[in-house]
Amino acid sequence: MTTPQETHTPAPTASVTLPVLTGSEGEKALDISRLRKETGLVTLDEGYMNTASCRSGITYLDGERGILRYRGYPIEQLAAKSRFVEVAYLLMYGELPTKRELNDFSGLLNNSSLIHEDMRHFFTAFPNHAHPMAILTTMVASLSSFYPVPEKPTDEEEKQIIANLVSQMRTIAAFSYKKFIGEPMIYPSYRLRFVENFLNMMFSSPVQNYQQDPDIVKAIDTFLILHADHEQNCSTSAVRLAGSSEANIYAVISAGVSALWGRLHGGANQAVISTLDEILSSGDDGRRFIEDAKSGKARLMGFGHRVYKTFDPRAKIMKELCHKLLSKPGMSDPMFDIAMRLEEAALSDEYFLSRNLYPNVDFYSGLILKAAGIPFNMFTVLFAIGRTPGWLAHWREMRHDAGARIARPRQIYVGPPERAYTALSERSGTIVRRESDTVRLVPLADTPIGIVKPKRFVETTRAAGMVPMPPEEASTSGDSGHIA
Ligand code: CMC
Repeated sequence: MTTPQETHTPAPTASVTLPVLTGSEGEKALDISRLRKETGLVTLDEGYMNTASCRSGITYLDGERGILRYRGYPIEQLAAKSRFVEVAYLLMYGELPTKRELNDFSGLLNNSSLIHEDMRHFFTAFPNHAHPMAILTTMVASLSSFYPVPEKPTDEEEKQIIANLVSQMRTIAAFSYKKFIGEPMIYPSYRLRFVENFLNMMFSSPVQNYQQDPDIVKAIDTFLILHADHEQNCSTSAVRLAGSSEANIYAVISAGVSALWGRLHGGANQAVISTLDEILSSGDDGRRFIEDAKSGKARLMGFGHRVYKTFDPRAKIMKELCHKLLSKPGMSDPMFDIAMRLEEAALSDEYFLSRNLYPNVDFYSGLILKAAGIPFNMFTVLFAIGRTPGWLAHWREMRHDAGARIARPRQIYVGPPERAYTALSERSGTIVRRESDTVRLVPLADTPIGIVKPKRFVETTRAAGMVPMPPEEASTSGDSGHIA
C-alpha cells in the first residue's frame, strides 16, 4: 500500500490523451501502455481487478449478464450438442471442425495417448499418499525431457505438441490414480473415445472390465467442456506469463496445473465436497454453515466469482446435470439435497445478495464427479484435463501474435529506502518487517518472520557435505531448530 502523499511517486508531468479500445462485443478499455513514458505514472491494480492483460479471440465472458461463449458459440449449445474433443479443436483452431478434421484430430489424440514407457517408473518413486496434482504437475514438466520441443516449431510440430498435451494429460491423470490405489496401470486404447478411454484407464483392472454408463460418459464430457476455457483466469494467466518467456511448452502447462491446484481456483470442487460432507456429518441443515460464512469463520466454497456477478452459466448446466444423474436408480446423494438447501438459503440472504455471490461451476461439479466414482483428490485433476485445451489455445494465440512480448508487470516498492550495509559483527539482531503501509524495525524475538530449520534437516545436509557449518551455529542448533 502507498501513503496518500506523493513523495515516492513522480507527479504527472503532462496531461495525456489515452486511446480507448473497443472489443468485438462492445466492451471498452483504456490503453495505458504509453502512460508511464508520458507522465511518469504507472497504474496499481492488485489482483488485476480492473486490468485486461491481453487481447484474445478465444472466449467471451460477460459476468454481469452470465454469458460465456467459446469462439462465439454459447456454452449452453456446446454443452448440449458438442463433445469435448470437438470443443478442444474449436478453442485451438477457431472453427468447429469438419467431419474429416475431427477424425484426423481424434486419430492424432489416440496416437499420442501413450507416455514414454520410461516415465512409468517415475510414478513408483512418489509416496503412496502423494496428491495426484503433485504428480500431474511434475509429470507434465517431465514430458519436456522425453518429447523435445524445437525452438521454432512448425505448424505440424505444433499440432503434435498440442495433441501430446491434451491426450497425455489424461493418461498421466489415470496413471497417478492407479499409483494412489496401488493397482497396475491400464494403457489407453485406440478403440475408445476420449472420455471412455479415461474412465477405462481409471476403473478397469486386469481382473475386471469397466462397464461404461453412457450417462456418466456424457456427464464427464460435459464437465470437461464447461471447464475447457475461461479467458484470463488465474491458471491461464500463469500459462501466458510463463509462456511469454518462450519457456518449454510442457513447463508452461505445468505452471498452469500448479496455479489451478489452489482452493480458490480449481481446488474449489474438492473443497465443496469437504464442506458438504462436514455439514452432513454435523447434522446441520446448512443454516449454521451459512452463518459461519457470513461471519468470516468459513467460506462457502463454490460460491462467488471474480467475474460473474450473477449465476455462473456453467453452474446452471451442472445443476441440471446433477438432477439428471442423481435421479437415476441407486445414484441419489444426500449431499445434493444439502447443496440445494445451501443455495436456496444463500440466495435469499442479504449477505450473499449484496455481494453478488452466486453458485459457480464448482458448486455442483464435485457432485457429478462423485456420482461418476471419481475420488475426491482427483477432482482438480479432472479440471486440469478439461482446461488443457484452453491453456494451449492461449499459448498458441500468444505464439502467433507478432506483437507478443514478455509479461513483466511493474510494482510499487514499499520496502526500506536506501541504507548502508551493516557488518555482521555490528548487527543487533533486528530485521525489517512490513506492517500495513509502513516499514519499521522490530526486535528479532518479536517477529514471526524467519525460517526454522528442523535439526534433522540441518544434520542431514551437513552430513551430505552440502552446508558448511559456521562455528557460531554449533551451540544454537538445539532440538527446536534455529533461525536460519
Ligand atoms: N463465501 C463467503 N463470502 C464470500 C465468498 C464465499 N465463497 N466469496 C466472497 N465472499 C465475500 C468476501 O468475504 C468479501 O466480503 P467483504 O466485502 O465483506 O470483505 C466479498 O464477498 C468479496 O470477496 P473477494 O474475496 O474480495 O472476491 P474475489 O473476487 O477476490 O474472489 C473468489 C473471488 C472466487 C476467490 C471468492 O468468491 C471465493 O473465495 N469463492 C470460493 C472459492 C471458489 O468457489 N472458487 C472457485 C471459483 S470458480 C472456478 C474457477 O474458475 O476457478
